[in-house]
Amino acid sequence: MIDKAKWIKSPENREEACYDFFKSFKIDKKVKSAVLNITAMGMYRAFINGDRVGDEIFTPYFTEYNKRLQFQSYDVTEMIDENTELSVICAEGWAVGYMRAGENQRNHYADNISLKFSLDIVYEDDTTENIVSDENVKVRSSYIVSSSIYHGETVDKSVEICELGNALVDENVEAVIIPQQGEKVKEQEVIKPVCLIETPLGEKVIDFGQNLAGYVEVKACGNAGDVVEISHAEILDKEGNFYTANLRTAKQKTKYTLSGNGVEVFKPTFSWQGFRYIRIDKYPGNEINLDNFRAIVVHSDMKRTGDFVCGNPKINQLYHNVIWGQKSNFIDIPTDCPQRDERHGWTGDAQVFVRTAAINFDVEKFFEKWLSDLAAVQFEDGGVTWLAPNYKNRYLQDVSSGWGDAATICPWEIYLAYGNKKILENRFESMKKWVDYIHNFGEEEYLWLGGKQFGDWLALDNEDGSYKGATPYDYISSAYFAYSTSLLVKAGNVLGYDVAEYEELYKNIVKAFKERFISDGLPVSNTQTAYAIALYFDLCTDKKKTADGLARLVRENGNKLTTGFVGTPYLLHALSENGYADVAFDLLLQEEYPSWLYSVNRGATTIWEHWDGVKEDGTFWSTDMNSYNHYAYGSVYDWIFGCAAGIKIFPDGAGYKHISVKPNIDKRLGFLKAEIKTRQGELSSYWYYKGDEVYFEFVIPNGTVAKITLPDGRIETVTGGKYIYGI
Ligand code: BGC
Repeated sequence: MIDKAKWIKSPENREEACYDFFKSFKIDKKVKSAVLNITAMGMYRAFINGDRVGDEIFTPYFTEYNKRLQFQSYDVTEMIDENTELSVICAEGWAVGYMRAGENQRNHYADNISLKFSLDIVYEDDTTENIVSDENVKVRSSYIVSSSIYHGETVDKSVEICELGNALVDENVEAVIIPQQGEKVKEQEVIKPVCLIETPLGEKVIDFGQNLAGYVEVKACGNAGDVVEISHAEILDKEGNFYTANLRTAKQKTKYTLSGNGVEVFKPTFSWQGFRYIRIDKYPGNEINLDNFRAIVVHSDMKRTGDFVCGNPKINQLYHNVIWGQKSNFIDIPTDCPQRDERHGWTGDAQVFVRTAAINFDVEKFFEKWLSDLAAVQFEDGGVTWLAPNYKNRYLQDVSSGWGDAATICPWEIYLAYGNKKILENRFESMKKWVDYIHNFGEEEYLWLGGKQFGDWLALDNEDGSYKGATPYDYISSAYFAYSTSLLVKAGNVLGYDVAEYEELYKNIVKAFKERFISDGLPVSNTQTAYAIALYFDLCTDKKKTADGLARLVRENGNKLTTGFVGTPYLLHALSENGYADVAFDLLLQEEYPSWLYSVNRGATTIWEHWDGVKEDGTFWSTDMNSYNHYAYGSVYDWIFGCAAGIKIFPDGAGYKHISVKPNIDKRLGFLKAEIKTRQGELSSYWYYKGDEVYFEFVIPNGTVAKITLPDGRIETVTGGKYIYGI
């Protein structure tokens, strides 16, 4: 009945303020059921007679609100009394508050917070009543005096709550309301402080030992008006001082003013922070007892599906960092990072990581929702811009390969992981429009030349300080054109659609690519990324020569990578799939800069945005763009799982119904075990060395057909059961 409710707003509209909308009513009959349907332009938290409704945070979550705004439904039958007060505290959230970096980046979807609800009651006598948002709802101020996603929250328990009058009907809300589609976001775990540090600057800093996204719950006892103030940071600088410059304009501060009524407990309601360290800027009495602080980790309520361990503790730490990169950045949408003034649904980052994400956690629902937003912000001509949601498409109109390709890559990977055709059915149009967009771009029919490209973002093979790698943009864009078209064809075949036209297009793109970008059997660009994507996207004229060339490029560079966002996810695959598993392992086990383990050796607990986030001399990459919690390079786990453990899904066996188990072994790891709870059941690949002998144990779920290939060349096709081998 939410359609019958009116959109309402507060009579006062102060920047970053939170307002409490409330309505009291009497119930004089026996209630059979009561459901609260509710949404907001902003964020809301509902209470009935002071008790919180549900345990979700950041509702109604983040979507392209003008086209799709979710409402939530809560069964509140047990909460309704004879005298009931429904109260809903609202904050600006994504819709109204400061989002995106830069001046005046507020009010992307609305100028003010608005609320809409319907409490639908069915009485025992089968009569019904709907208590809806309208001009009879009252508004009062809130103890949350200000709240902002980036800046943090200020709660003042010493202020007097004052009534502001009746709510006003808001006629200006531009939103299409839909039922909740995505996962809920909830508090997930609690992390206790590891230690209290006094920095050289004399700052009091608590180390939680883990970079994370969430907030700190603080206990304090003091007089009315006493203040607790906390700043959040990911890292300490070279000297050991608290470092916040990489947060850019995001303040990430929380401030609590005590009421003076005994022990008080505070935490933010509508804001989260990305941090490992907090600095205690103010605390009553100044005595810091670690028991009064706990970090609360928040993320989407996805079920953990994957697990991994091997004989190398540093690789285990790398895996841990991959998992924490995902936990920190899967807060309703896949974000680039959880701390600085971004936290956007960057499409490129999501496509790079999606396969790893779907091994670690069950992300089907999460991506269904996010891909609906991606399709909703897709331009008329099929172009997919950098972000989803995209703030009403008002600011970002540019399109880059590797980013827009999330439109084809993500649905395909989600289909492969879970075997549910729905995602392809629902997104086929968007996939097709994306391929058509590239096809229609520019003069060349079968190549993507020009445009505003990110290229091999953050690769190391260009001049110092450059964000973009040396691999030519045209090369990357045209390669992705081929890859996206190949995925569209695969999706069409799964759905039984006629995609002959796109099969033809694919052939033509590959032909044009080879003519233009391959010379004498090798990519015209001499970068690791160019070689890796030619191999991975199947664009070589001479695979062997290209693989030899890629291995040579890595060897010549001291077994070190130079790749960025585009090349990194494919580099190890391209090597191990073409006879160079040893080189892939050398890269994985490399500890010197640049490498995955370099950051591990530097104490990373999440994946860094830059290979050189902390340089060898201990200084930092520029403050401009330096996150220590960017999941993109965590995509290395899809190689560990797919090639080292050797578990791959055949395209005709989506949902792990038909798989290949073909481990690549390396004595330096001693043993390796990767597990996953698939929709078919539990699947694992385990290998271990005993002297020079190697043993394998594979657990295959019932109903799965697995082609097992051992390093000695033995091949066996099996179904559900446990299989043990030795060589
Ligand atoms: C984001 C990235 C993103 C990139 C694109 C950055 O600001 O944090 O992860 O993909 O911009 O250029």
